[in-house]
Amino acid sequence: MELFNENSKLAAVILRDHSLLPVINRLGIKLGFGDKTIRNICEEKGIDINFFVETINVFHYEAYFPEKRLLDFSVSMVIEYLMKTHQYYVNYLIPENDRLIEMFLSATPDESSENELVRKFYTKFNDEFVIHINFEEREMFPYILELNEAISNPAHRSRFRQKYPGYSIEGFEKEHSNMDDKMDDLKNIIIKYLPPNYDQNRGNAFLANLFMFDKDLKNHSRIEDHLLIPKVKQLEKLLQSYE
Ligand SMILES: [Fe+2]
Ligand SMILES: [Fe+2]
Repeated sequence: MELFNENSKLAAVILRDHSLLPVINRLGIKLGFGDKTIRNICEEKGIDINFFVETINVFHYEAYFPEKRLLDFSVSMVIEYLMKTHQYYVNYLIPENDRLIEMFLSATPDESSENELVRKFYTKFNDEFVIHINFEEREMFPYILELNEAISNPAHRSRFRQKYPGYSIEGFEKEHSNMDDKMDDLKNIIIKYLPPNYDQNRGNAFLANLFMFDKDLKNHSRIEDHLLIPKVKQLEKLLQSYE
């Protein structure tokens, strides 16, 4: 397994794996970096080099998850990255999916029962997705950021305990499996049960976007489950030790 490191030229990284493009955008980098290395670029932009390198490696290699090293990063940095990912989904990938699925389904002039089925499963996935990210943004992330604040600033501790009596991340921890199941159902319906007269090019365009979303979302969930949650458990223990 070849991992990227701070001396890797970013252009070579992207040529090797273009699915990292939205990932580097979320980390604050746009195209046009010439022959600069990851170190050069991160120093220029004030980006944490280790966080950058680990995030692209986690995304690139499914088997790679350096839990111990990742636990060094601040939760606020991780949450900022996760929030940017949510924004990318909500502002770009989902509207793009909406557009592509409508183009695809409208190519078959008669509304068929298969079209209806695809729409139904697409809606089910979207509903589950919205519930999930709303929960994270409105409840889970604020709890984590306030916990972090209570750790670094003793003056905030009693307010935190009053606001979240008896809370722990275990109570908040939600399975990502509901969302994954709905995504799998949708992909299966399209791949296995479409009628023979569907528009192939439009179908492929929609599926390509859906697969990209699926990959990105699984990596996102992986960071939440294996990096953020263990990190929060550490912080909760630390806060308990101050009591
Ligand atoms: Fe999330
Ligand atoms: Fe999530």
